[in-house]
Amino acid sequence: MRCRICGHETGNDTDLCQDCVERASDHKELSRRRFLGWGAVTVGGLVGIGYLGAALRLLYPSSSGSAKLQDIGPVSNFPVGNYVLTSYTGDGYDDGVYVMNQGGGKFIALDFHCTHLQCPVQWFQSLEKFMCPCHGSQYNKLGEHIAGPAPRGLFHHEIAVQNGHVMLGGQIS
Ligand code: FES
Repeated sequence: MRCRICGHETGNDTDLCQDCVERASDHKELSRRRFLGWGAVTVGGLVGIGYLGAALRLLYPSSSGSAKLQDIGPVSNFPVGNYVLTSYTGDGYDDGVYVMNQGGGKFIALDFHCTHLQCPVQWFQSLEKFMCPCHGSQYNKLGEHIAGPAPRGLFHHEIAVQNGHVMLGGQIS
């Protein structure tokens, strides 16, 4: 039988010769490698852009807070003395923010990115501290750095109460 691609004798009853089968599988492998290569470049680029944005915010936090305060719900959604993880989507970015009702109308809002390499920190109520799963930095209840490689405490976000609702703004320090 003749090969349907190159026209040479296949030497058996299939319509593809051995050479064309090998060329086809080489081509497929090359395409797969190119696809994976570009996929890795694309994913790497997106992750890099994300980290660059986070790093720039770390280096240049808004000094006066955001002009746009975002309503994150009524005061009753925030029990006194415990942190609630919320998110801030103003200023063109989406940031996880821990918000705690300190009682007496006072609130504190802490950015959830570790100040070492930006991993998200976790709040442990029983220990009354934030811990970073990446390299072990720790922060106390007020976000002050107490252990690990982080160079400073967690960044604060602007926060206010207006008409019974908690209003969250951008990073301020
Ligand atoms: S990113 Fe948190 S300790 Fe390194």
